[in-house]
Amino acid sequence: MALTSLDDLVAAQGDLRGRRVLVRSDLNVPLDGTTITDDGRVRASVPTWQRLLDAGARVVVVAHLGRPKGAPEAKYSLAPVAERVRELLPSTTVRFAGVTVGGEAQEAADALGDGELLLVENLRFNAGETSKDDAERAAFARELAALVGGADGPAAGLYVSDGFGVVHRKQASVYDVAQLLPHAAGGLVEAETAVLQRLTTDPARPYAVVLGGAKVSDKLAVIENLLGTADRLLVGGGMVFTFLAAQGHEVGKSLLEADQVETVRGYLATAAERGVEVVLPVDVVAATAFSADADHEVVPADAIPADRMGLDIGPESARLFAERLADTRTVFWNGPMGAFEMAPYAEGTRELAKALAEVTRAGGLTVVGGGDSAAAVRSLGFADDDFGHISTGGGASLEYLEGKTLPGLSVLS
Ligand code: 3PG
Repeated sequence: MALTSLDDLVAAQGDLRGRRVLVRSDLNVPLDGTTITDDGRVRASVPTWQRLLDAGARVVVVAHLGRPKGAPEAKYSLAPVAERVRELLPSTTVRFAGVTVGGEAQEAADALGDGELLLVENLRFNAGETSKDDAERAAFARELAALVGGADGPAAGLYVSDGFGVVHRKQASVYDVAQLLPHAAGGLVEAETAVLQRLTTDPARPYAVVLGGAKVSDKLAVIENLLGTADRLLVGGGMVFTFLAAQGHEVGKSLLEADQVETVRGYLATAAERGVEVVLPVDVVAATAFSADADHEVVPADAIPADRMGLDIGPESARLFAERLADTRTVFWNGPMGAFEMAPYAEGTRELAKALAEVTRAGGLTVVGGGDSAAAVRSLGFADDDFGHISTGGGASLEYLEGKTLPGLSVLS
């Protein structure tokens, strides 16, 4: 799908001095109080802002944080993110408005000078952003467009979609506003889609996909699709216990989606028919409770005691996974292998990240998809260049790989 690029937009508009540009970024970062624990999405958003600022544009950034329900909630304020933006753009005037549209936000947008940036408060403090009602969303999109001068006249605004993590959402700032203003895909959306396209069209083989995270039900569609493209599917994380149950094993108190066992059994059969190798853990770290202090031990994956829950893949499994990745030329990884936030259950995720870093060093394309996996590898001390690409989009990258039409991309083409 050909997207209008930022370069096309800048070339078509000529000089951007005096022009206001609305940029949708994904600044949905993990916070501990008001401290950002992983600023990857903020850093990934800077190049597109910088490109527009360098062209003299007056940049209005809109973004969401968390899932507030259409009304302000202090814990979801973007104010801490505005501070980080200021640090990352030390030579730019960065303003923050405590509302999203109208009032203070409109005044600040009207007062912007060339090469200045305004971040407005969380989009989702407004019911119109995520409304299922087309008219309500369109009305909010008009208010967003007004921040950059509206859709008509010589001072009409422009729109750049750069929040890759939200392109799967049919929301006012992602979808509706693009229908009002001349628009383009930002550099991040372009880069992300280019990488994902490489995974869906003729990936270098062997091509392995590693899936983890809590819920298998979130990943059903992608598994189904990948059984047609990947050579190997490695499964860990909470979702693996539904796979082990589908193979007839007891999983104790581990996470289990009993209603998905039949579906997973079907996938295992399809994989066998198509020659897709499914690699499951052979051992797991089993604990008496979901807690770092709980008693825990490594047990065979087919003998999890009834009173224990699996919270990580075990060391034998980590070795097996690394071995099944060693000769791959393309790897996509989504979802941690265990409850990595707690030190006793972080090893599986760490060892997997190491295995991916080896593939990167050997010249393979490795893609880490998703906010959680990205935060996991950074918090475990890996560098961004240990991987070919760290996607800023979890749900968005999975839906792309599922082959779905993503509203936020189709509207730009
Ligand atoms: C994400 O965290 O994946 C994106 O920011 C999208 O957030 P959402 O799932 O709340 O729409």
